[in-house]
Amino acid sequence: MPIQVPKALPDRVTRLAQVRKTPFLTIDKKMVLRKLDQFQKAMPDARIFYALKANPHWRIAKMLAGRTGFEIASEEELDLLLRCRVSPQRIISSNPLKSPSFIKAAHAAGVKYFAFDSPDEVEKLSEFAPGSNVYVRLSVSNEGSRWPLAGKFGVETAEAVELLTRASRGPLVPCGITFHVGSQCTNEMLWVSAIEKSRLVWNAVEREGVNLWMLNIGGGFPIEYIESIPPFDQIAAVITETLRREFPTGVEIFVEPGRAVVGEAGILVSSVIATARRNGENWLYLDVGVFNGLMESIGGFRYSMTADRDGPVHKWVVAGPSCDSLDVISNGVELPELQIGDKVYISSAGAYTTAYASRFNGFLIPKTYFV
Ligand SMILES: Cc1ncc(COP(=O)(O)O)c(C=O)c1O
Repeated sequence: MPIQVPKALPDRVTRLAQVRKTPFLTIDKKMVLRKLDQFQKAMPDARIFYALKANPHWRIAKMLAGRTGFEIASEEELDLLLRCRVSPQRIISSNPLKSPSFIKAAHAAGVKYFAFDSPDEVEKLSEFAPGSNVYVRLSVSNEGSRWPLAGKFGVETAEAVELLTRASRGPLVPCGITFHVGSQCTNEMLWVSAIEKSRLVWNAVEREGVNLWMLNIGGGFPIEYIESIPPFDQIAAVITETLRREFPTGVEIFVEPGRAVVGEAGILVSSVIATARRNGENWLYLDVGVFNGLMESIGGFRYSMTADRDGPVHKWVVAGPSCDSLDVISNGVELPELQIGDKVYISSAGAYTTAYASRFNGFLIPKTYFV
């Protein structure tokens, strides 16, 4: 089991913890901008589209508007970006299964790029977004990703060629290929094999007389939780080298990071609401849990947790506040002896936390404060 190293907590966050009701999320604005900058530097030839689903807080959208593009899937996400004055030319939708009403609204707003992976979607896009640039979602290996996205999306090579060719016969402009290696992907070879697979589709489509110009390499870039991850620069270098080899010239590269832009900027601040000893184990109950913020723990995510009290550490089973037994965040968490009201700080909580949270059982979704 990986060793949990307590994180140093920024003063701004611990000060807020003294005056604000928990649970709440803090987002370090400067860190979000630094992460974006890191992407831009490591992949200077790529156009970045922040996957808004990772954290759709309007202040993040506003902060990134004018600096980057956005990837969206719903009318609510579209409305938010339009309210933040994001140009529709900077918005794309890579969900290959979209509702007709969303396609209509996005098309009417001026969004020009849409993914697809079925004949039905070609029909819908032809009817509701004629003239759009469309890109096929290729099925690629997600082996080695903590939160796989395979199965529900994507087609194999032959079908991808058929769908792009079909799209070229309608009022659409087939422009490229996309894939997603799965979220929190720690195996950079998945991007390599996905790019190579895209090249095969690209060549086959060209033989059918359809010329593509865009490759969208999706998201999936990992962030630091407890387990060690390959350094970002290493992943970016492997991807860049593979792109230069497989797609040497004249191809626009899109990239859609979500987690890697906002994840490490977030610290979730919670309070201990109860402790118990059950079947020889120490249980620690927090006011945040699986349903109101830490949904990804059911996919095996393990967060680094730090308390504001010192002392010899125990191993705890850490659970959320609801009446559901699924609401267990983590086993074997090393924390000192804690009392009701003590604060527990959960690191790397900026992505897919408040975005996923529900008010199940009446527990509040954490508010977000920007520090
Ligand atoms: C189409 C698409 N693009 C990008 C992302 C962002 O992925 P990540 O947060 O792993 O970077 C997702 C996540 O679900 C996605 O579905």
